[in-house]
Amino acid sequence: MEFNEVLFSRRSVREYTPQPVDEEAIRHLIEASIYAPNAVNQQPWTFTVVRDQDVLDRISRGAKAHMLANMPASDHSEHFRSLLGDPKFQIFYHAPVLIVISGIRQGPWIVEDCALAAQNLMLAAYAAGLGSCWIGFAQSFLNTAEGKQLLDIPAVSVPVAPIIVGRPKSIAVDVPRKAPDIRWI
Ligand SMILES: Cc1cc2nc3c(=O)[nH]c(=O)nc-3n(C[C@H](O)[C@H](O)[C@H](O)COP(=O)(O)O)c2cc1C
Repeated sequence: MEFNEVLFSRRSVREYTPQPVDEEAIRHLIEASIYAPNAVNQQPWTFTVVRDQDVLDRISRGAKAHMLANMPASDHSEHFRSLLGDPKFQIFYHAPVLIVISGIRQGPWIVEDCALAAQNLMLAAYAAGLGSCWIGFAQSFLNTAEGKQLLDIPAVSVPVAPIIVGRPKSIAVDVPRKAPDIRWI
């Protein structure tokens, strides 16, 4: 697929078929991730691939409870509160796989490094005919002791980017962009 098409056409996907994503395809996405720019080429990331739907359900339940208990008041809090309180809402949209990119330790550029790896992964997924979506709802729970235990990662790790991947069930809605605020000096 042509690069500009990947760049401008990728959208977050929130409806998936139950078809699994094979291991080779997952390894290809992770290979694309590790070519991201990263501070001092430390490559300080680890990738956790969760395909067990029971584990995904447990993380979803934990994340919803954690968010509801710790959510600060914001413009979106009422909408989020009713979504997170809905027992039928699974934060991973029943995608067949979740790939969590974590920093292997705290560090000054861990979030930037993992986020850039995540962007590569999402663009590579789109180019491979797959859908993806970053699930921020999972982040704070995955950073708790219980969340890290479910991911089977050491306590010093820092989960940054939970990305669901799967085959899109429908065409993702186009999301308009605001005109960029550009200041020329
Ligand atoms: C840090 C971050 C957290 C996000 N968290 C969620 C989430 O929890 N659930 C969700 O459905 N989408 C989530 N998204 C996806 C955004 O809603 C989406 O990227 C945005 O609306 C722009 O749409 P597009 O990705 O289709 O271009 C997240 C995206 C980012 C970058």
